[in-house]
Amino acid sequence: MIEESYNKISTWYDSYASEFFCEDDEIQINIDLIKTHASRVVENVRELGSSIDVEESDLFLLQTAALLHDVGRFVQLVEHGTYADNEESNHIQIGLDVIEAHNVLNDLEEADKALIIDCVKMHDLNILPKMSDERSLALIHLLRDADRIDVLRIVSDYYTHKKVHPNRHLDMELKDMPGIAKKISKDIMAEKVASREDVETLNDLKLFQMSWIFDMKYKRSFKMVSEKSYIKAIFETLPKSDVVIDMYRNMKIFMENQL
Ligand SMILES: [Fe+2]
Ligand SMILES: [Fe+2]
Repeated sequence: MIEESYNKISTWYDSYASEFFCEDDEIQINIDLIKTHASRVVENVRELGSSIDVEESDLFLLQTAALLHDVGRFVQLVEHGTYADNEESNHIQIGLDVIEAHNVLNDLEEADKALIIDCVKMHDLNILPKMSDERSLALIHLLRDADRIDVLRIVSDYYTHKKVHPNRHLDMELKDMPGIAKKISKDIMAEKVASREDVETLNDLKLFQMSWIFDMKYKRSFKMVSEKSYIKAIFETLPKSDVVIDMYRNMKIFMENQL
């Protein structure tokens, strides 16, 4: 894929995103968050991709997938009033529909288009299906790492400052109450990504997000998460029970071993 194609899609994205300007501050803050997240994920895929010598043409393809991966969030937020995916509102399905309805990828070669769609489809799956094509798998992993690194940036900052700047959408409609789901601590102690389905409280969500480190693939990803202390910042906002301290220690050691 060539730079010119990426630039064209990027221009489309900017004008599409600008249609969602909203006078309600609470919504507008979240619209801005979606836009900033997309551009940070674009930066992250470039940084991660360059660290493992991804070809320039694949970098533009990855940047396109990064820019579009959450394009469904605008409609999800404005029409469904949530970031929480469920049967009526799933940001990935909405995003795929938006890409199709606006012919966003129509100028691209079929293979490039299919790969970008796969990246969007799979960026948020807990477990990836088996794939034999190494190049596709690497690109999907790069997007997943890049996405999760930026979500960790957003939420670690949010949880730290949430008393001053509450944003109910980032709480994903979960209650901030004590207790940790047993399945989540079990997964984390086994160095596994926790399941989104097991999340019942805001503390569970925090631990679920922290557990993404167990699924990160690239050395540079660990470096980025570790340098910015995202995991430590989220831990600081959790109740310091023995089980939480044990989980944090486990994640910290795991991270250190990847550097
Ligand atoms: Fe997403
Ligand atoms: Fe995302």
